[in-house]
Amino acid sequence: MLCPAVTARGRWGISAYQWPGVVWIDTQDGGSGNGQIDLLASTDGGSRTDATTYPLSSVIHHRINALEATEFNRDQPGADVAAGDYAILVAMHVAGREIARWTWQTFWWTPTPDDPKQPSSQVLAALRPPQLKGAARNYAMSIGYEMTSPGQPNVGGQNAGAALYVYNPYLEARFGAANLPDSLPGYDPSGSAAQNNVGVACNCMSCHIRENYNPNHLASAPQYAGARYTDLNDPQFAGTLQVDFLWSLPEIAN
Ligand code: HEC
Repeated sequence: MLCPAVTARGRWGISAYQWPGVVWIDTQDGGSGNGQIDLLASTDGGSRTDATTYPLSSVIHHRINALEATEFNRDQPGADVAAGDYAILVAMHVAGREIARWTWQTFWWTPTPDDPKQPSSQVLAALRPPQLKGAARNYAMSIGYEMTSPGQPNVGGQNAGAALYVYNPYLEARFGAANLPDSLPGYDPSGSAAQNNVGVACNCMSCHIRENYNPNHLASAPQYAGARYTDLNDPQFAGTLQVDFLWSLPEIAN
């Protein structure tokens, strides 16, 4: 799944709309950015400095053609995208159906690729292979192959142990408790008691394992949740159809 692409017109563009800090991207490949961000983020560019500007080549990008511009503007009225604008890859979720509970990994561009912020880490950054070069090396990663540590079995496990927080700052971080109604109190990654009911306490697997097609609108059916354990045979699934970890299926099929 490819997520928020932000376009730039002219030489400089701002990287995202919902964050207090931004970086500037130079479409002519200038900029000496090396970890700095612009906390003023004036839309006229007045607050931009060379140190908060990064070359376009440091970001995975694509030049939009006329057909793409038309489709983009149709999907997002008001976006005002034109052929020749740049789309940049800010964040991307990747899920793989390689094991019963799938593999979950997410990536986002970071100005500090060797020292990415949570939920990534220096340990994960150090695991990037040398073959990963250029723009692709500037993305932080967070991975979730389990809901808790130590991992629990697919069925018959418990919401015990430390939760694993795995989320994308650009996608899940904004969720509040109201978005995650089936959250369950447990422990944070350090083992302290935690509510685990907000976006920065999410785990991909914990939310996607709860997917179900619920044509009868049973109130008992599983809903979105923060980081927690869910049994693949949880009685909450009774009367619903589990759709193998893809929320898009039940949400579009109706
Ligand atoms: C709180 C619930 C929740 C969390 C946490 C969550 N997702 Fe999702 N995800 C969804 C929903 C709902 C959709 C479907 C959105 C749509 O179709 O509009 C989705 C869509 C996706 C898709 C596209 C395929 C599909 O099911 O539609 C991928 C891939 C994906 N998520 C990966 C991830 C990864 C990787 C993480 C963790 C970093 C994650 N998700 C965290 C709820 C969640």
